Amino acid sequence: MLKKLTYLIGISLFSYILISCNKEENPQGKWLTGSKQEQINKIEDHFRGFGVAMMEIGYRYQELYWAIKDENWGYADHQLHEIEEGFELALEKRPERAKSAHHFKTITLPEMDKLVDAKDTTNFEQVFANMTNACNSCHAMEEMPFITVKTPLKRLSPVRN
Ligand code: HEC
Repeated sequence: MLKKLTYLIGISLFSYILISCNKEENPQGKWLTGSKQEQINKIEDHFRGFGVAMMEIGYRYQELYWAIKDENWGYADHQLHEIEEGFELALEKRPERAKSAHHFKTITLPEMDKLVDAKDTTNFEQVFANMTNACNSCHAMEEMPFITVKTPLKRLSPVRN
């Protein structure tokens, strides 16, 4: 009897080990696994932080430049609003950067907004240079002076008049 029981326990243990070894972490190729909290943490990581938001802002900064050059005011307005929203969301992720972004938010963006609203081509070079300086001074304040943006030279996107 005892022998039979030991035999049964042995078989069960062996099967359990076999099954555990064969079980993949995510059998259907799904990566959002684990507890609810672990899943939320994973989603947060995949949304990334400031860097990806800045890649988007870098792109929109260039598009804004060409939109104004083209006097495509609707597109300029669109890009400016996307930049504003991109900043809001990026600062929600990294509120510790809000202090360095203060000038950009309170002076630079409203100045550009005013220019686009007024369809002002006369002051464009100056206002765009102010924006570029504000981008770079924030990079310096955030100890990334090596990220220097300059007036775009070439169009990247196919959007043009
Ligand atoms: C909070 C102040 C702040 C302002 C204002 C700011 N940046 Fe940035 N930027 C950063 C920081 C911080 C990084 C590095 C992000 C990281 O990787 O964590 C960065 C990175 C970048 C990058 C590199 C992204 C990459 O990783 O490839 C570009 C391009 C960029 N910024 C463009 C701009 C432009 C254009 C403007 C102005 C329209 C601007 N930034 C304004 C803080 C700022």
